[in-house]
Amino acid sequence: MAVAAPPGVSPTFWRLLTDEPLADLDVLDVGTGSGRLALALGPLCRRVVGIDRDAGALALGRQRAAAASLANVEFIECDADKRGDYFEIAAGWENPDLIVAHLCVSDDIIENASKSLAPGRVLALVAFHTDQWRETGRASRFAYDEARLRGELTECDFSVEHLEVEREVQRFASVEEALAAAIGLEERWRADGRWFNYMKFLEDGGRTLTRSHLSVKARRV
Ligand SMILES: C[S@@+](CC[C@H](N)C(=O)[O-])C[C@H]1O[C@@H](n2cnc3c(N)ncnc32)[C@H](O)[C@@H]1O
Repeated sequence: MAVAAPPGVSPTFWRLLTDEPLADLDVLDVGTGSGRLALALGPLCRRVVGIDRDAGALALGRQRAAAASLANVEFIECDADKRGDYFEIAAGWENPDLIVAHLCVSDDIIENASKSLAPGRVLALVAFHTDQWRETGRASRFAYDEARLRGELTECDFSVEHLEVEREVQRFASVEEALAAAIGLEERWRADGRWFNYMKFLEDGGRTLTRSHLSVKARRV
């Protein structure tokens, strides 16, 4: 029976992953955080290594792996943007057969993935789309549009097999509803100036909030 996508992970992206022969694969999860994807993949794969630069998140991931008795899932602190780090990891284990990056994508990460994967191996990623939270007037610096992501992957010797924009536009009947939908984001948005822009958008009559991601599977040529 098919295993359901972990909470907050798009079923489309999960299907791209589970279509691969996971039981035979060593997987690198880039920007794993506290291991949402790594822990879900653990029971399905030969081995999973989650890397992140946030030591606190990794500690939580280790706790969760131990609680779930997942001996084949490990977590390593590492800056995935830094050139060469993947190779240091690779020195301690075989090169990954599959690299996943869920909401942690940069040009450097794509380039590093290209260097770590043998021809025929897959990079599967979810990136923020430039339309993510467009109502705040500011795209994340990690956001891509379709053309830029496809271009970066092609330049790094990947053949793009699947690239899909997944967009959800919430529509609100009132300002109160719109504010309630963004409540968990307020602190972060106040810090980076987005909150002010969102307020302005609502004052001007806007009543939407857009979430948008790109789900991608690309194969190293
Ligand atoms: C939005 S979270 C996604 C976490 C996880 N993939 C998930 O879906 O639950 C982004 C994660 O990427 C990590 N990250 C961002 N830049 C990184 C880098 N250069 N090297 C390693 N981790 C990074 C952050 O620490 C954070 O845990």
